[in-house]
Amino acid sequence: MMFRLLLLLPLGLLALQGQDLRLLCEQRGIKLGAAADPTRILDTKEIVYAATLGWEFNQIEPENAMKFGPIHPSQASYSFGPADTIVNFSNAVGQVVRGHTLVWHSQNPDWLTKGNFSSKELSDILQSHINTVVGRYAGRVYAWDVVNEAFNDNGTIRSTIWSDSPGIGLTGTAYIEQALRWANSADPKALLFYNDYSAEGMNAKSNAVYAMAKDFVTRKVPLHGIGLQMHLTLTPGSLADIDTNIKRITDLGLQVHFTELDVRLPVDSSGNATAAALATQAQIYHDVVAICLKYPLCTAIQTWGVTDKYSWIPSVFPGFGAALLFDTSYKPKPAYNSFRDALAQAAPVISASGLVSAASYEGNGVAPGEIVVLYGNTFGPSILQLPQLDGGKVSSNLSSARLLFDGVPAPLIYARVGQVSAVVPFAVEGKTTTQMQYEYQGVKSNAVTVPVLASKPAIFTLDTSGTGAGAILDPNYQVITASNPARKGGVILVFGTGGGAMTDNPQDGALAGVPLPQIRDTVSATIGGVDCKVLYKGALPGGVLGALQFNIEVAAGVPSGVRPIVITIGNKSSPSAVTVVVE
Ligand code: XIL
Repeated sequence: MMFRLLLLLPLGLLALQGQDLRLLCEQRGIKLGAAADPTRILDTKEIVYAATLGWEFNQIEPENAMKFGPIHPSQASYSFGPADTIVNFSNAVGQVVRGHTLVWHSQNPDWLTKGNFSSKELSDILQSHINTVVGRYAGRVYAWDVVNEAFNDNGTIRSTIWSDSPGIGLTGTAYIEQALRWANSADPKALLFYNDYSAEGMNAKSNAVYAMAKDFVTRKVPLHGIGLQMHLTLTPGSLADIDTNIKRITDLGLQVHFTELDVRLPVDSSGNATAAALATQAQIYHDVVAICLKYPLCTAIQTWGVTDKYSWIPSVFPGFGAALLFDTSYKPKPAYNSFRDALAQAAPVISASGLVSAASYEGNGVAPGEIVVLYGNTFGPSILQLPQLDGGKVSSNLSSARLLFDGVPAPLIYARVGQVSAVVPFAVEGKTTTQMQYEYQGVKSNAVTVPVLASKPAIFTLDTSGTGAGAILDPNYQVITASNPARKGGVILVFGTGGGAMTDNPQDGALAGVPLPQIRDTVSATIGGVDCKVLYKGALPGGVLGALQFNIEVAAGVPSGVRPIVITIGNKSSPSAVTVVVE
């Protein structure tokens, strides 16, 4: 953030438009990328390039600098300088980097294409290239287009130096699999993509990409996503087909990135498009962005360049241009505004499987008053919001984020993109299911059905992992550890949630005072398998209702050492993975 401001200082009052788009993308949990040219980043006479790139986007991809020819110009040498410029710049301005590309038929150096190498030699060259390039940027490039454009439009494998001319000695998609495996061993944490054009909708090429992806997923080949280039025209084909294709890819559990989005327009000899064309272009941007936002696994949208001034379109498609979000003077175009509208209008998408106990991370249903975490909501405050009191109660609205159960807003413990923690309203008591919806800035997500349980006991853990040492104190409020073990015959204070219904008509979000609401169901406890007496089983004094305290007497017969502690409420027990050290 700081760096972004510093970058802007020299620009004085230059009319930047307030990075609405970037902020909205960050709230939505998706990356907004641009392909970039390192020489332009370094052009101090045109600092507006670096400023727009650094300010408006949160992801960069080298347009050419990491391709085989540019980065590996002779067999014995690499040229990392330009790629390093991109990586260093993006680190400085807080962006992530996508790498592009390791295996492609184009922009390969003469030493490679004219070297008359055997398949064995090519295989060694490619393995060492991938290992060197991916290895160098491990931890700094978060995703790679490992293989680019390997299919023909009819779905057959394109004939290239890597596939069959002469190829690295593997037939069909096996060479793609091999490249993915090499990239995965060079950086096991990087997300690996297959990237292609004209495979956005439903056609022979996208079918072939899908079939390969499905096969790779089934066989656990390290493929994490599909890049859809998205070089579109004013007639982008069926949007419904693009939607269907993204659905089937993400249904495999793979991510989708729009990697090279642009919408080229017919332009006059000065490079200008008509207002009508710019308006249609804006609608196309809006529509494809809206499709991506329907799928939580569609995680990045990247345009192929920053400004119309330097887009690749005019040189490759004569008579066309004006394809990007910023015009030749770096002013946001109608497409920028419609992109922003699509983000602002998009509904968050949630799934019931993302809802777990905040103590045990156990899913499959909620109990009244249970403190839960919902993961994977792809819309929310970009900065962590901590709990707030509203009329003496924990607020159920944090920075316009709400979590509703049958329309009742749950008190919120915290909220940020991708994660919200809440206390399930006591009103779900007695129901078999509840409808959960997330809401951000007034826009509601889909509703998902969540089973309601009478209780779902769970003990908080010291490292919040859900397993290991429980959050347990001695009677002097000192943490129980190996050096301060629980005394046999003594009392320990255990903290948890998921007790279900409580006495004294508990109010959502209220802080527990006298009379302290008690768990209504039967409560029992064991340590190391030995029954222990429960002296107190109710609200955590001063805590939000739903946070529980149990005072448990450690029975004399409990074995010494690190022992599982289990609390049973009604017919359900807490997971036995939580432990307490006994003297
Ligand atoms: C293009 C670059 O934009 C140009 O500067 C270069 O001259 C040729 O390559 N699909 C891809 C990109 O995957 O790498 C291509 O980039 C555009 C089409």
